Amino acid sequence: MSSRLPGIALLIVAGGLSACFSELRRGLTFPWDENMEVHAAPRPQARALRPPPGSLTRDGEIAQPRDQSDGLVNPVPRSAAALAGGQQLFTTYCAVCHGADARGEGPITAKFIPAPNLTDPELQAKSDGHFYATIRDGGLVMPAYGEALSHGERWQIVLFLRGLRQP
Ligand code: HEC
Repeated sequence: MSSRLPGIALLIVAGGLSACFSELRRGLTFPWDENMEVHAAPRPQARALRPPPGSLTRDGEIAQPRDQSDGLVNPVPRSAAALAGGQQLFTTYCAVCHGADARGEGPITAKFIPAPNLTDPELQAKSDGHFYATIRDGGLVMPAYGEALSHGERWQIVLFLRGLRQP
């Protein structure tokens, strides 16, 4: 009988200590113990965050604000293959609104806000970078294609569109 006493005493002490620790833990909650939703983080979808300056995207493009895109130079050299590729991408992604010939008469015009004629001299007077940034970031109504098209694909479309410039 007496040989069991130290064991029982040890259990009682261990139980007491563990109760003490859990009380202590409740009083001393560390920041990472708190509910992750209760802190000053932006709510999901609340606002779009621009990547930090100098960030690289999957295809190596430097993230750039729209208003600083005017001076961008098209890195895709003009060739028959690049123009054909640009036209094909335009047909896939843009013609539904802007029309196959880019004159703004795509099939969606009957049901959606009409898209502008991209061969319009006033629009064509804008820079390559402006065209590029419009494709990447979209417009007021136009969807953004920054995710759907790679850096090179977007520039290929710009190349194709600049070829439509009216004399
Ligand atoms: C859902 C319809 C829609 C699609 C698809 C679309 N656009 Fe647009 N686009 C518009 C509308 C509407 C505007 C008028 C401006 C705005 O939305 O702010 C516009 C404007 C533009 C402009 C002119 C911007 C300016 O300075 O006025 C360019 C260039 C352009 N689009 C290129 C493209 C290209 C290239 C694609 C394909 C990658 C494309 N768009 C796909 C609807 C569309």
